[in-house]
Amino acid sequence: MSSFEWNKIIASLLTALIVAMVSGILAGQLVRPRELAKPVFVVQSAEQTAAAPAEQGAAAALEPIGPLLAKADPKRGEQLAKVCQTCHTFTKGGPNKIGPNLWDVTEEQIASVPGYQFSAALEKDKNEKWDQEKLNQWLYNPQSFAKGTKMTFAGFPKAQDRADVIAYLDTLK
Ligand code: HEC
Repeated sequence: MSSFEWNKIIASLLTALIVAMVSGILAGQLVRPRELAKPVFVVQSAEQTAAAPAEQGAAAALEPIGPLLAKADPKRGEQLAKVCQTCHTFTKGGPNKIGPNLWDVTEEQIASVPGYQFSAALEKDKNEKWDQEKLNQWLYNPQSFAKGTKMTFAGFPKAQDRADVIAYLDTLK
Protein backbone atom coordinates (compact mmCIF):
# COMPACT_ATOMS: atom_id res chain seq x y z
CA MET A 1 0.00 0.00 0.00
CA SER A 2 1.34 3.39 -0.86
CA SER A 3 1.73 6.02 1.78
CA PHE A 4 -0.86 8.04 -0.13
CA GLU A 5 -3.40 5.35 0.58
CA TRP A 6 -2.43 5.20 4.26
CA ASN A 7 -2.96 8.93 4.40
CA LYS A 8 -6.45 8.50 3.00
CA ILE A 9 -7.27 5.85 5.58
CA ILE A 10 -5.95 7.93 8.44
CA ALA A 11 -7.71 11.01 7.11
CA SER A 12 -11.03 9.21 6.88
CA LEU A 13 -10.63 7.82 10.41
CA LEU A 14 -9.88 11.31 11.72
CA THR A 15 -12.83 12.72 9.83
CA ALA A 16 -15.09 10.10 11.30
CA LEU A 17 -13.79 10.92 14.77
CA ILE A 18 -14.31 14.65 14.30
CA VAL A 19 -17.81 14.14 12.91
CA ALA A 20 -18.65 11.97 15.90
CA MET A 21 -17.33 14.57 18.32
CA VAL A 22 -18.99 17.51 16.65
CA SER A 23 -22.34 15.78 16.37
CA GLY A 24 -22.07 14.83 20.02
CA ILE A 25 -21.50 18.44 20.98
CA LEU A 26 -24.23 19.69 18.65
CA ALA A 27 -26.68 17.12 19.95
CA GLY A 28 -25.86 18.25 23.47
CA GLN A 29 -26.61 21.82 22.48
CA LEU A 30 -29.80 21.03 20.64
CA VAL A 31 -31.32 18.77 23.23
CA ARG A 32 -30.58 20.31 26.55
CA PRO A 33 -31.62 18.18 29.45
CA ARG A 34 -33.17 20.43 32.02
CA GLU A 35 -32.88 19.53 35.68
CA LEU A 36 -36.34 19.34 37.19
CA ALA A 37 -36.88 21.39 40.29
CA LYS A 38 -38.69 18.48 41.90
CA PRO A 39 -39.22 14.89 40.92
CA VAL A 40 -42.24 14.46 38.70
CA PHE A 41 -42.93 10.94 39.75
CA VAL A 42 -42.16 9.65 43.20
CA VAL A 43 -42.77 6.04 44.07
CA GLN A 44 -44.05 5.82 47.58
CA SER A 45 -45.36 2.92 49.53
CA ALA A 46 -48.63 3.35 51.34
CA GLU A 47 -46.85 3.42 54.66
CA GLN A 48 -44.50 6.18 53.66
CA THR A 49 -47.39 8.23 52.42
CA ALA A 50 -49.12 7.82 55.72
CA ALA A 51 -46.04 8.78 57.66
CA ALA A 52 -45.08 11.73 55.50
CA PRO A 53 -47.00 14.43 57.38
CA ALA A 54 -45.57 13.10 60.62
CA GLU A 55 -42.07 13.66 59.40
CA GLN A 56 -42.67 17.37 59.26
CA GLY A 57 -42.44 17.33 62.99
CA ALA A 58 -44.91 19.84 64.35
CA ALA A 59 -47.66 18.56 66.58
CA ALA A 60 -50.36 20.03 64.40
CA ALA A 61 -48.96 18.25 61.34
CA LEU A 62 -49.77 14.79 62.68
CA GLU A 63 -52.67 13.40 60.76
CA PRO A 64 -55.50 11.99 62.88
CA ILE A 65 -54.89 8.41 63.90
CA GLY A 66 -58.57 7.40 63.84
CA PRO A 67 -58.74 6.13 60.25
CA LEU A 68 -55.58 4.08 60.73
CA LEU A 69 -56.82 2.74 64.06
CA ALA A 70 -59.87 1.39 62.30
CA LYS A 71 -57.66 -1.04 60.39
CA ALA A 72 -54.97 -1.40 63.03
CA ASP A 73 -53.56 -4.78 63.97
CA PRO A 74 -53.18 -5.20 67.75
CA LYS A 75 -51.13 -8.39 67.24
CA ARG A 76 -48.60 -6.47 65.21
CA GLY A 77 -48.78 -3.75 67.85
CA GLU A 78 -47.91 -6.29 70.52
CA GLN A 79 -44.79 -7.22 68.56
CA LEU A 80 -43.84 -3.57 68.15
CA ALA A 81 -44.45 -2.97 71.84
CA LYS A 82 -41.64 -5.33 72.74
CA VAL A 83 -39.33 -2.31 72.60
CA CYS A 84 -41.39 -0.76 75.41
CA GLN A 85 -40.72 -3.68 77.74
CA THR A 86 -37.28 -2.44 78.68
CA CYS A 87 -39.10 0.20 80.67
CA HIS A 88 -42.73 -0.88 80.99
CA THR A 89 -44.83 -3.82 82.12
CA PHE A 90 -48.19 -4.40 80.41
CA THR A 91 -49.83 -6.81 82.82
CA LYS A 92 -52.62 -5.97 85.24
CA GLY A 93 -51.03 -4.88 88.50
CA GLY A 94 -47.57 -5.28 86.96
CA PRO A 95 -44.72 -3.44 88.62
CA ASN A 96 -43.44 -0.05 87.59
CA LYS A 97 -39.99 -0.18 86.06
CA ILE A 98 -38.11 2.73 84.55
CA GLY A 99 -41.54 3.73 83.29
CA PRO A 100 -44.96 3.10 84.85
CA ASN A 101 -47.09 -0.01 84.37
CA LEU A 102 -49.24 0.43 81.25
CA TRP A 103 -52.27 -1.76 82.02
CA ASP A 104 -55.43 0.13 81.01
CA VAL A 105 -53.42 3.20 80.06
CA THR A 106 -55.66 4.11 77.11
CA GLU A 107 -58.49 5.09 79.45
CA GLU A 108 -56.43 6.42 82.32
CA GLN A 109 -55.71 9.87 83.61
CA ILE A 110 -52.30 10.97 82.38
CA ALA A 111 -49.48 10.43 84.89
CA SER A 112 -51.68 8.76 87.47
CA VAL A 113 -50.18 5.29 87.96
CA PRO A 114 -49.89 4.73 91.74
CA GLY A 115 -46.42 4.45 93.19
CA TYR A 116 -44.72 5.95 90.17
CA GLN A 117 -42.87 9.25 90.28
CA PHE A 118 -43.77 11.03 87.05
CA SER A 119 -41.80 13.94 85.68
CA ALA A 120 -43.18 17.45 86.08
CA ALA A 121 -43.42 17.56 82.29
CA LEU A 122 -46.06 14.85 82.24
CA GLU A 123 -47.65 15.59 85.60
CA LYS A 124 -48.84 18.96 84.38
CA ASP A 125 -51.29 17.06 82.14
CA LYS A 126 -52.60 14.82 84.90
CA ASN A 127 -56.05 16.40 84.86
CA GLU A 128 -56.51 15.06 81.36
CA LYS A 129 -57.06 11.52 80.18
CA TRP A 130 -55.07 9.68 77.59
CA ASP A 131 -56.96 9.24 74.32
CA GLN A 132 -56.00 7.97 70.91
CA GLU A 133 -54.80 11.32 69.59
CA LYS A 134 -52.74 12.07 72.70
CA LEU A 135 -51.17 8.63 72.52
CA ASN A 136 -50.58 9.18 68.83
CA GLN A 137 -48.64 12.35 69.58
CA TRP A 138 -46.86 10.73 72.54
CA LEU A 139 -45.74 7.70 70.56
CA TYR A 140 -44.76 9.84 67.62
CA ASN A 141 -42.40 11.76 69.83
CA PRO A 142 -42.77 11.87 73.63
CA GLN A 143 -40.85 15.16 73.78
CA SER A 144 -43.25 16.84 71.38
CA PHE A 145 -46.14 15.87 73.63
CA ALA A 146 -44.51 16.71 76.95
CA LYS A 147 -41.29 18.60 76.60
CA GLY A 148 -38.85 17.41 79.24
CA THR A 149 -40.50 14.04 79.84
CA LYS A 150 -38.20 11.35 81.14
CA MET A 151 -39.47 8.81 78.63
CA THR A 152 -36.40 8.51 76.45
CA PHE A 153 -38.01 6.71 73.56
CA ALA A 154 -37.39 8.08 70.10
CA GLY A 155 -40.93 7.39 68.90
CA PHE A 156 -42.48 5.63 65.95
CA PRO A 157 -42.29 7.80 62.81
CA LYS A 158 -44.72 5.55 60.94
CA ALA A 159 -48.36 6.31 61.63
CA GLN A 160 -49.43 2.69 61.11
CA ASP A 161 -46.92 1.53 63.73
CA ARG A 162 -48.42 3.96 66.22
CA ALA A 163 -51.94 2.88 65.33
CA ASP A 164 -51.05 -0.79 65.83
CA VAL A 165 -49.40 -0.11 69.21
CA ILE A 166 -52.34 2.01 70.38
CA ALA A 167 -54.71 -0.77 69.28
CA TYR A 168 -52.64 -3.20 71.34
CA LEU A 169 -52.61 -0.91 74.39
CA ASP A 170 -56.36 -0.67 74.05
CA THR A 171 -56.68 -4.45 74.51
CA LEU A 172 -55.12 -4.17 77.97
CA LYS A 173 -58.21 -3.69 80.06
C1 HEC B 1 -36.31 3.94 77.84
C2 HEC B 1 -37.45 3.66 78.63
C3 HEC B 1 -38.82 3.71 77.97
C4 HEC B 1 -39.23 3.10 76.81
C5 HEC B 1 -38.42 2.26 75.85
C6 HEC B 1 -40.62 3.41 76.68
N1 HEC B 1 -41.04 4.19 77.72
FE1 HEC B 1 -42.93 4.84 78.05
N2 HEC B 1 -42.31 5.84 79.70
C7 HEC B 1 -41.03 5.84 80.19
C8 HEC B 1 -40.94 6.74 81.30
C9 HEC B 1 -39.69 7.04 82.12
C10 HEC B 1 -42.24 7.29 81.49
C11 HEC B 1 -42.66 8.36 82.49
C12 HEC B 1 -42.54 9.68 81.74
C13 HEC B 1 -42.55 10.90 82.62
O1 HEC B 1 -42.87 10.83 83.80
O2 HEC B 1 -42.21 11.96 82.06
C14 HEC B 1 -43.09 6.69 80.46
C15 HEC B 1 -44.43 6.95 80.31
C16 HEC B 1 -45.24 6.35 79.36
C17 HEC B 1 -46.67 6.57 79.25
C18 HEC B 1 -47.52 7.46 80.13
C19 HEC B 1 -48.08 6.62 81.25
C20 HEC B 1 -49.09 7.32 82.12
O3 HEC B 1 -49.60 6.65 83.02
O4 HEC B 1 -49.39 8.51 81.91
C21 HEC B 1 -47.10 5.81 78.21
C22 HEC B 1 -48.51 5.71 77.68
C23 HEC B 1 -45.94 5.12 77.67
N3 HEC B 1 -44.85 5.47 78.41
C24 HEC B 1 -45.99 4.26 76.62
C25 HEC B 1 -44.87 3.66 76.06
C26 HEC B 1 -44.94 2.78 74.94
C27 HEC B 1 -46.20 2.32 74.24
C28 HEC B 1 -43.64 2.44 74.65
C29 HEC B 1 -43.14 1.57 73.53
C30 HEC B 1 -43.52 1.96 72.22
C31 HEC B 1 -42.79 3.08 75.62
N4 HEC B 1 -43.57 3.82 76.46
C32 HEC B 1 -41.42 2.96 75.65
C33 HEC B 1 -39.97 5.11 79.70
C34 HEC B 1 -39.97 4.39 78.54
